Amino acid sequence: MASMTSNTVSMSERLDFVEVAHATAVATFADDVSAGLRATPKQLSSKYFYDDLGSALFEAITLLPEYYLTRAETEILTDWGWQMSRALDGRVEFFELGSGSAIKTRILIEEALRAQGTLRYSPVDISATLLKQSAASLADAFPNLSIRAYAGDYFDVLSSPDLTFEHGSHALFMFMGANIGNYAPADAQALLTMISRKLRRGDGLLLGVDLRKSARELELAYDDPEGVTSAFNKNLLGRINRELGGTFDLADFEHVVKYDEPRGCVDSYLRARRSNAVRIEALDLDVSFAEGETIHTESSYKYNEFGVARLAEACGLHLKQAWRDKNRRFSVALLLKGA
Ligand code: AVI
Repeated sequence: MASMTSNTVSMSERLDFVEVAHATAVATFADDVSAGLRATPKQLSSKYFYDDLGSALFEAITLLPEYYLTRAETEILTDWGWQMSRALDGRVEFFELGSGSAIKTRILIEEALRAQGTLRYSPVDISATLLKQSAASLADAFPNLSIRAYAGDYFDVLSSPDLTFEHGSHALFMFMGANIGNYAPADAQALLTMISRKLRRGDGLLLGVDLRKSARELELAYDDPEGVTSAFNKNLLGRINRELGGTFDLADFEHVVKYDEPRGCVDSYLRARRSNAVRIEALDLDVSFAEGETIHTESSYKYNEFGVARLAEACGLHLKQAWRDKNRRFSVALLLKGA
């Protein structure tokens, strides 16, 4: 049954594209910037990093020697993808939240195709443009793959009646790339609970998490000497200038990173190098910064497997198995839905 709020287009015999609208009114970039810069302490949400320039800068981050996360996860999928794609009973279909370019997922898709001949893959991403490109290129590359792509916010897609399951398969959801780390603990639990409620007995969730390690290693991963992560962070101010008529001078701010050991969290900030004032025309807002004042821009939570198991239990799932890279920096966990 088609919902009132979704729009489904068959782009080819093997590719359906579903656009899922917001179920309720959501705050816009302008609303969140306005609230975040009026708050004490000031904050901006990391979800706004990813405009075109920010997404390109993030791609560059994944290639940095210091940012080991992407390489470690790819190593795990390369070494253990064959086991992951066969870890549920019987046939599987894949759902991937935040699929992006789906480069790493190709490893699991190939393994599943090898195991069962055909596969249905349902990527979910907020960016309709990226999703259309990656879905079309996957459909081209794999003649035995059928794709039902969902463009929308995770919460909207997960609660949409248009999210359909294939008869006779178990669903293997994926939330990779340490994306769960950008959610505060209560939000991580809310998202995983929502996924868990969609799962049927025997379905599973593959979760990519970055593991806790020394502050030195973590802070270097988020503050590379080449300054790519600094540019990524400062792009938030650039985006405010471009989209909301802001007057931020990016040179007035520096990228600062701190690992908070008790929370297991790398916090990123933009800190004013000198006192300065900024006008944001579209918000009719003047903001002043004292020297040394910070804007919190991102939290990247790190886990250990005990933490993953505890999170899973709190969401009605249990940790079945976890794979690590050889340097034991990153983990991909399989969380199963029981009775
Ligand atoms: C997308 N996310 C998991 C990245 C992370 O590691 O928190 C974003 C990032 N921020 C700075 N570097 C990478």
